[in-house]
Amino acid sequence: MSGETKTRREADAPRAGRRMFIQSYGCQMNVYDARRMSDLLALQGYGEAASAEDADLVVLNTCHIRERASEKIFSELGRLRELKAARSASGDALKIVVAGCLAQAEGAEIQRRQSAVDVVVGPQSYHRLPELLARAGNGARVVEAEFPEEDKFGFLPAPTEAATRRRGVSAFLTVQEGCDKFCSFCVVPYTRGAEFSRPVAAVVEEARALLAQGVRELTLIGQNVNAYHGAGEDGAQASLAGLMERLARLPGLARLRYTTSHPNDMAADLIEAHRALPALAPYLHLPVQSGSDAILKAMNRRHTSADYLALIGEIRAARPDIALSSDFIVGFPGESEADFEATMALVEAVGFSASFSFKYSPRPGTPGAERSDQIPEEVKSRRLLALQELLERQRQAFNRACVGRTLDVLVEKRGRHEGQVGGKTPYLQAVHFEGGPELVGRMLPVEILSAGSNSLHGRLKAREAA
Ligand code: 5AD
Ligand code: SF4
Repeated sequence: MSGETKTRREADAPRAGRRMFIQSYGCQMNVYDARRMSDLLALQGYGEAASAEDADLVVLNTCHIRERASEKIFSELGRLRELKAARSASGDALKIVVAGCLAQAEGAEIQRRQSAVDVVVGPQSYHRLPELLARAGNGARVVEAEFPEEDKFGFLPAPTEAATRRRGVSAFLTVQEGCDKFCSFCVVPYTRGAEFSRPVAAVVEEARALLAQGVRELTLIGQNVNAYHGAGEDGAQASLAGLMERLARLPGLARLRYTTSHPNDMAADLIEAHRALPALAPYLHLPVQSGSDAILKAMNRRHTSADYLALIGEIRAARPDIALSSDFIVGFPGESEADFEATMALVEAVGFSASFSFKYSPRPGTPGAERSDQIPEEVKSRRLLALQELLERQRQAFNRACVGRTLDVLVEKRGRHEGQVGGKTPYLQAVHFEGGPELVGRMLPVEILSAGSNSLHGRLKAREAA
């Protein structure tokens, strides 16, 4: 369809309702927050638009973790400003909201640089979006980057059935937010605020609603999820393991995961849960960041590489087949060649199934950014390349070792090819196999036949299971 035809058709038939487009950047919690915002705005009458071009309201749910993340968002804001100018020239309004961690950290800067932005709202205040939009509707530009007293979860609507159906069988559920650890490279304690755990009853209620709508797998999320210490249903404090035991009793739940954890909060009962709780997937994302004790200390991680290895030993004793993944930062200030080699040695010693690795990015306001011994860009790049090669070799080896095994696959969607479906193994590998769309939502035994570079290929063993 030509642009002209489209314009004429739209002019003939004005849009029935307002439409929103929410673009999320960064971590899984942003994905979750975007869904909650979408449910909230749906109650205000907003339908979903396929793109910013098609929307009356665009929300950028932003990330501030590394400089690249912030740059991407400022460039997208430039594009949206032009779109807004073009739209207002035709008498059509477009509202722009910047939410998330960049909004929290640089709200004033965003307002200064981007006059097209109507509302800036931090991650702890997005439940106030309807009110903020109404204020912005009267011509004001609004910045809301407080850490309000109230718990935003108490003000958000329950997930709607239509939304969950669209979103599939695997859902994120925030159980903990914020962080008190203050690793010296990290902005999270400043953008997400102090650590906070939701009460067990609130989590159970949200889980029930999701399961009733067809969700089969829950990933409990939090910046420091294993520090979870929410109020229990009996009034006592519950640990993450306690919360998971409770959730595992809910009918319809096939699988539980949790992320992201700090090594120092890997409590004995959580390790035990990996042995004793059948619903808990044998997968653990446990960032170590570095294998050098000097760098771990400078990062304020408060553990050594030997502590980490000992912990991995305990976890593997509880669940020998567990797949482990981690985050790594190369080029933290002061990192010597020997420090970097210590990271490589730790990776060799553990054997990870998957990992994320980054060049250190100085973040304004964090202690790491103040240091005078920053590492040159080319050194960071060389180290990152070497580390990523090693991690990739380990990932491929882990995938190849699954060939010939039969794994329980939770079927999530139709495959890319006709007649195929796709899902995840317990170890969080993507797998596809021949099967019809009626299998979506079921946990099925699949024999792994081959390992490609990004996914496994398998064959359904039997249809009786689950
Ligand atoms: N530079 C590079 N990587 C970072 N991360 C957090 N802060 C920074 C930073 N300043 C990485 C850590 C963390 C992951 C979410 O992002 O590895 O675990
Ligand atoms: Fe950031 Fe994680 Fe450290 Fe908290 S524990 S400061 S979220 S890296």
